[in-house]
Amino acid sequence: MTLLDGKKILTEIREELSIKVQQYIAQGHRAPCLVAVLVGNDGASQTYVSSKEKNSASCGYQSRILRFDESMSEEELLNEIEKLNQDDTVDGFIVQSPLPSHISAQRIFDAIDPNKDVDGFNTINTGKLTKGMDCFVPATPLGIIELLKRYQIETSGKHCVVIGRSDIVGRPMSILLSLPKAGGNATVTLCHSRTQNLKQFTLQADIVVAALGKPEFLTGDMVKEGAIVIDVGITRIDDPSKKSGFRLSGDVKFDEVAIKCSYITPVPGGVGLMTIASLLQNTMKAYELKLGNNSKKN
Ligand code: GUN
Repeated sequence: MTLLDGKKILTEIREELSIKVQQYIAQGHRAPCLVAVLVGNDGASQTYVSSKEKNSASCGYQSRILRFDESMSEEELLNEIEKLNQDDTVDGFIVQSPLPSHISAQRIFDAIDPNKDVDGFNTINTGKLTKGMDCFVPATPLGIIELLKRYQIETSGKHCVVIGRSDIVGRPMSILLSLPKAGGNATVTLCHSRTQNLKQFTLQADIVVAALGKPEFLTGDMVKEGAIVIDVGITRIDDPSKKSGFRLSGDVKFDEVAIKCSYITPVPGGVGLMTIASLLQNTMKAYELKLGNNSKKN
């Protein structure tokens, strides 16, 4: 069994992006700029957003967090989005979810300029993704495809079973794996909470992506010998023995599954870090898109 090491690949990608940033700066351009918008005080969201900011800064990006109170109205947030859309010094931005329940997340995502939508949550980008067009792809599924590529794991012709049909992970993951291009060409089964006898599907899978948000859901008896297992789960479980008061649990019962499979992602240190890597790559893409558009205008 080989661990798919998200930390190692994130480090590689950060180094590649740092070199590009230095080259652009040497040519007289400013650094790429990523902004994260955080509404409210959700503990996990604060951790994710500050990790995104730190990783951006470490490859030479300008990076900042805009924090707003939980009581902010949808209209006020839409105003902030419009300011970021108009700000030429901002290449890409994200609005961390979950948002407070009085704000429609999709309305917010759809207000983001599709060319600055580095999370790929805007309906324009979702539509382009389903057609295999160039677009911003949600960072978690994109990161999983990148991880498989960097470990030279072939997806073409493989049976991939994705568990979970969220807008952010499961559904875009199933689309990416089925696209007729590198990192795709798989036969895809998308399982979810209404799937009957889920085990009959997972037992047939060459690659399982567990993205349902239920700690230790995928057990050893549900995977075939030699399968590749990708764990997207990252649930906080109370644990008084930890300084933070919690530990992170994946959707995979690691000890049981690891002894059966050929490759597996750890939690933490797997998919979560690949999400950050892809966000950094998407930000570079948005920056380069803007540079290209500006040079066409001049
Ligand atoms: N909430 C959970 N994952 C994500 C993500 O990748 N981006 C944003 N904006 N919010 C999230």
